[in-house]
Amino acid sequence: MIVNILIFLVLVLLTIGAGWLTWKAVRARRLWVKIAGGLGAGILTLILAAVTFAGGRGIAILYFPGAKPAPGLKVEGTPDQIARGEYLANINCVGCHGQVDANGEPTETFPLSGGYNIGEAEGFGFMGQVATENLTPVGKLANYSDGELFRAIRHGVNKDGQMLVFMSLLPYGELSDADTEALIAFLRSQPAVTPNGPTGDNANFIGALLFGAGMFPAPAPKPDTIAAPSADTSVEYGKYVATYGECRGCHGPDATGVAESSFGPAVPNPRPLVSTLSQTQFAAMMRSGLKPNGVPFPEAMPWENASKMTDDDLAALYAYLTIAP
Ligand code: HEC
Ligand code: HEC
Repeated sequence: MIVNILIFLVLVLLTIGAGWLTWKAVRARRLWVKIAGGLGAGILTLILAAVTFAGGRGIAILYFPGAKPAPGLKVEGTPDQIARGEYLANINCVGCHGQVDANGEPTETFPLSGGYNIGEAEGFGFMGQVATENLTPVGKLANYSDGELFRAIRHGVNKDGQMLVFMSLLPYGELSDADTEALIAFLRSQPAVTPNGPTGDNANFIGALLFGAGMFPAPAPKPDTIAAPSADTSVEYGKYVATYGECRGCHGPDATGVAESSFGPAVPNPRPLVSTLSQTQFAAMMRSGLKPNGVPFPEAMPWENASKMTDDDLAALYAYLTIAP
């Protein structure tokens, strides 16, 4: 953060300097200095001004996102809460925050000691470090109040109110208050484990610049309280399952597919296929990773999330994916 702000200040000075040179050149007595100097210094000023503006905007987005105060909250940590939290964490959090092996590759297994350098793995390491945090009680979260942890999951900001680059783009801000508290209860109940990889994010100036230039969608603000629909096999609850199962994160807000974009290849609409299946066939497909024609889901489709769901959650998901959205 400090380095990025210093780079920004240097850029401000350079922009002013280039602006001053432009002014000098334009007022020069010799015509060629006026034209060549004015044009050259003028273009340089414009470029510097644009970079400075985008960098400054990125710094504002990353470090001063206007986080609300963390709620005063004490999670009881009942056995029911811990069990529910473990169920949810095993469906989604473990895929990224699970411990890494000796090569820094995610094992997708507990403990949630993190250390997976996603930025490097996904080819955006040039923006700075983006690595999964250690969510066990020995890491950074040991110094978080329950309210600060709640705010991190709901609003995607850290203890200091700075933007969590990756988390704020993920759908966990849509989890209900009860489920968010269950996750906190589970995180607090884990054994303390030190990660064997880097943790947390540290955007460099290029990262700030890209944020400032609007390369990433701004996360939609989340309400302070969220109630989940009652847990049953209804379409409504199925949509909620598709939220924590992450289906909507990839297949689009209505799970109707998304077109190819700068963020990645197209993701198909799952509904046409699911609608041809019985609920039993759907559950079998999501638990085996094999489509009814025997073709396995490719790597890009994390069917394992759904394979860890209860029968009722899969039934709700089926109900949701077989109606017209
Ligand atoms: C797609 C990968 C991914 C998944 C899935 C994921 N996280 Fe994260 N998480 C990250 C990364 C990367 C960071 C590091 C900070 C950042 O860039 O957001 C992080 C950081 C965090 C932090 C640290 C906040 C801080 O203040 O530094 C918490 C808490 C957290 N995650 C909770 C969760 C929980 C709970 C889940 C499951 C509901 C989850 N995460 C699922 C990638 C993920
Ligand atoms: C990380 C992104 C991602 C997530 C999360 C995800 N999917 Fe997918 N899904 C894909 C991609 C990519 C494909 C296309 C794979 C292919 O090329 O066959 C796909 C394919 C599918 C298909 C097959 C569609 C067809 O016609 O072949 C179904 C069904 C499906 N997903 C359901 C789900 C469900 C249910 C969930 C939530 C439990 C889910 N997906 C979560 C990325 C994702």
